[in-house]
Amino acid sequence: VALVNLIIQIVVGIVGFAAVVVARKRKVRRHCLLMRASVAVLIVTTVVSMTSPFVDFVRETPPLALFYPEMVVHHTLGLALIVLFIYINLSYTGVIKATRGFKAAMWSAASSWLATLVLGIHLYLRLHF
Ligand code: HEM
Repeated sequence: VALVNLIIQIVVGIVGFAAVVVARKRKVRRHCLLMRASVAVLIVTTVVSMTSPFVDFVRETPPLALFYPEMVVHHTLGLALIVLFIYINLSYTGVIKATRGFKAAMWSAASSWLATLVLGIHLYLRLHF
């Protein structure tokens, strides 16, 4: 299950990267659609496949150096991505009036996504090799 999830997260990460390229080409509608679809897949697969290992690792942390802090940083950055995603959608649809900081929120979301993915791959490699 962990390997399947890892592969899905990498594929979704690639789609997310493609969506950034699409945004830079000013194809905004396609960008929004790709991002919403990939973040939806990301949230569902994460909840399904990572909740139970996370709870296990909090109860009993694997005896690897700095594993716990690394997991917490990975977890926090992943949650930051979701908060930013919600903020982006609310300001884009005009539910909240935010005229400034839209691009900054986008780039922050992209950075926390990338950092979360890299840490997640690293955690996987530490656990399985
Ligand atoms: C978490 C997911 C998302 C990430 C990582 C992301 C990332 C980005 C990036 C890196 C840019 C380029 C900004 C620039 O040109 O400097 C961008 C632009 C843009 N994104 Fe997103 N985006 C996300 C979700 C969304 C969603 C869901 C929408 C629509 C509701 C959206 C709407 C836009 C728009 C309208 C632009 C163009 C902004 C402009 O040029 O003024 N994004 N995004």
